[in-house]
Amino acid sequence: MGIQIERIARDLDILNSFTATPGKGITRFTFSEPYMRARAYVSEELRIVGARVSTAVGGNLCGRLEGSIRGIPSVMTGSHIDSVLQGGRFDGVAGVVAALEVARVMAEKKTPHRHPIDVVVFAEEEGSRFGSVMIGSRAWIGKLSSKDLHRFKDADGTSYFAAMEKAGLNPEDAPLLRSGMVKAMIELHIEQSLVLESKGLSIGVVEGINGIKQFLVTITGVPNHAGATPMGLRHDALQGAVRAIAAVEEIAIQDLGANTVATVGMLTCDPGQANVIPGRVQFTVDVRDLDTERIDQAAQRILSVIQTICRARGLTFDIKPRSDTPPVRLSKELVQLIEETAQQKQVQALRMASGALHDSSILPEVTEVGMIFVPSKAGRSHCPEEETDLKDLRTGTEILLGAVAKLAS
Ligand code: CO
Repeated sequence: MGIQIERIARDLDILNSFTATPGKGITRFTFSEPYMRARAYVSEELRIVGARVSTAVGGNLCGRLEGSIRGIPSVMTGSHIDSVLQGGRFDGVAGVVAALEVARVMAEKKTPHRHPIDVVVFAEEEGSRFGSVMIGSRAWIGKLSSKDLHRFKDADGTSYFAAMEKAGLNPEDAPLLRSGMVKAMIELHIEQSLVLESKGLSIGVVEGINGIKQFLVTITGVPNHAGATPMGLRHDALQGAVRAIAAVEEIAIQDLGANTVATVGMLTCDPGQANVIPGRVQFTVDVRDLDTERIDQAAQRILSVIQTICRARGLTFDIKPRSDTPPVRLSKELVQLIEETAQQKQVQALRMASGALHDSSILPEVTEVGMIFVPSKAGRSHCPEEETDLKDLRTGTEILLGAVAKLAS
């Protein structure tokens, strides 16, 4: 027997019975009681298949199925079981139950593998409890120190480190995850968007995680009497701003690749009075793409449009950078391997970028990383309505099994 969807469905039901908000979505904050019960379930299931279970630096869980050769790099798969406040049943959990099922099937079938297989559960991916995302994976590769783990506090003032200890996890002497220790890592995750569903596809192969450039634009004009100032003699900051904002969307749609997205999400208008011509408008621009050059190009074009508009209207402007996170490219070899594995199963896989961050954005520093996306119904995520068809999850798990078995053989 291969992948059994009934077992995956049961794992999902059991893991999602552990929530701090029953009937109101899944709330499973890192190291909380429901979290530790869900974690214990994963540990126990891993022990049953013969894995050696340990806690890694940062409180991550690792279950190892030894390969036929000792001491060679492992093949890793897994995701996270922490959630946002009143989140859904699949974000993170889908990748954990898929990894668990892969380990079960490989153990049952006695699939020969030279490399060890590590099933992992990363801690605090969402940042819901300690306010910073992907703490577990960052700590594991040494990007965060134990000092940092003392510094991150939850709403009650409990530090990450203290919460981890209180939950009975003491990974003091555990080694950091270094280059050369893992041959490859593949994470299955829900898409959290509409692309796969809109194309009627079951599988996405993630080429990378979008980079983000954000900046704050301030356009300044002259606030003046809305009745007494003739139209030709105004310097209306908002009239300039709306034209620039419209251009943000046009630039993302027309000029660049299909992956570019640009958003104006925040806008303020001063003095904000019905009878005063707006004197000052501030808005944010958020541009994302898998390609740094395209992000820069989009930002450049938006800037030049703002310049032109302001010059023509006698307005002044100022642009301040807010954040600049470069894109993360995942392994080309693993994209190919996942694609080939899908092809062999007569499944069409779509190459795509991930708009959201994952632990898989952290791990390329130490290993080759690949990601498999399965569709989210209506693109809903981080809410109780989050849903993935179990048939798609089975297809994704079969491809994960094929890819992991090949890598570990
Ligand atoms: Co997630």
